[in-house]
Amino acid sequence: MGADGTRPPHISASVLNADFGRLGDEVRRAADGGVDSIHLDVMDGHFVANITMGPVVVEALRPHTGLPYHSHLMISRPLGYVGAFADAGSDVIAFHLEADDDPAAVIEEIHRAGRGAGLALNPETPAERALPYLDSIDLLLVMTVNPGWGGQAFMSEVLPKLAALRAEADRRGLDLPIAVDGGVSLETIGAAHAAGGDVLVTGSALYSHPGDLRSTVGGLRDAARAGAVATTERSRP
Ligand code: DX5
Ligand code: ZN
Repeated sequence: MGADGTRPPHISASVLNADFGRLGDEVRRAADGGVDSIHLDVMDGHFVANITMGPVVVEALRPHTGLPYHSHLMISRPLGYVGAFADAGSDVIAFHLEADDDPAAVIEEIHRAGRGAGLALNPETPAERALPYLDSIDLLLVMTVNPGWGGQAFMSEVLPKLAALRAEADRRGLDLPIAVDGGVSLETIGAAHAAGGDVLVTGSALYSHPGDLRSTVGGLRDAARAGAVATTERSRP
């Protein structure tokens, strides 16, 4: 927690918009650019219309960096795949509250596999539905786009829900990282961080830049901080 009460921004690279023909290089490019984790979007063509990657891809990418791997499971039946994604090298396995399996059972299975449990909420899912699980998860993932594709517009109407979840986590004294996923860019990252999101997932805003990503990542981190500071300044009497 920073001196100004805000949590330092953690930049997470979503490789969904990277060059899939050179995914290992693209993971390293983000790591060399200074991101804090790698975000892997897993889609089954059922929970969402798109189909992206499975455990074999996570396993193939694992040797490319020592950074934490966050596997974001946009699949209908996560319970049966926890073991495979854990064995493939995921450090955090995030699944959707809207999926078909019992969330408490999936969280327990992820912990049994010795990984961090993440719970993801679609934009239309109310904050109240996540409250029973806040004490048992290691990451809350708030979607700011409807899951399925990269490059979509940021849904700012989700920010009040994000702020409410951050306030509830703080009220309970939880040191809970909250990820914001979808449409996070230089224009939107400040508001996302100010509302309480500290893990900021970014795909197209990162991989639309060729070559060295250090200044892109640095710019995103600065914009996140600026957003939070501006809000803190505004709230001061
Ligand atoms: C969307 C995915 C996001 C997406 C982020 O369903 O969960 O992680 O890839 O990409 P951008 O930043 O381009 O919205
Ligand atoms: Zn994602």
